Amino acid sequence: MSQLGERMIRRVVFTEAEIRERVAQLAREITHAYAASDPLLVLGLLKGSFIFMADLVRGIQLPLQLDFLVVASYGRQKTSSGDVRLLYDPPSSFEGRSVLLVEDIVDSGTTLRRLVPRLMARGPTSIEVCTLLHKRTTSVEPEPRWVGFDAPNEFLVGYGLDHAEDFRHLPYIASL
Ligand code: IMP
Ligand code: MG
Repeated sequence: MSQLGERMIRRVVFTEAEIRERVAQLAREITHAYAASDPLLVLGLLKGSFIFMADLVRGIQLPLQLDFLVVASYGRQKTSSGDVRLLYDPPSSFEGRSVLLVEDIVDSGTTLRRLVPRLMARGPTSIEVCTLLHKRTTSVEPEPRWVGFDAPNEFLVGYGLDHAEDFRHLPYIASL
């Protein structure tokens, strides 16, 4: 980690061990929930979900396929622009499959509200959302079925989450 990075971090919010334990629990719950379902397609929202996704899928004890979506990010702002653009859309078919969308953090819910109906239009059997963090700043629709942690209303980085592309590689989650 850079010296600058060290100095900007205010406090560790979720430690590496806390995250590991919670992600393993989520993977067990997801394994149980999809045991009798149609083939599972796990869709990660890049870039924020990449570390969570990697840890989560390794704990899911079911056959599955995975792909990613890329949506335009906040850029350098700390608040949502409300503009959600799909920059990469997976070519894989959703028909007859259970889709699990993996998100790093839910704040205003705008990303999910814009994205989930578009994915639903492609004919999956179901779409559920698993988010590592949920700020619970407002009631969101759709509401994620699985939430790793309720997050404080602070700007968080690490374990995939960034601020202006910095800090994604931190193995813990911290506030700036
Ligand atoms: P929403 O659309 O307002 O729910 O925001 C969700 C997206 O905003 C997430 O996928 C993140 O990319 C980003 N985001 C929201 N809060 C934070 C944060 O505290 N740290 C880093 N990214 C965040
Ligand atoms: Mg994100």
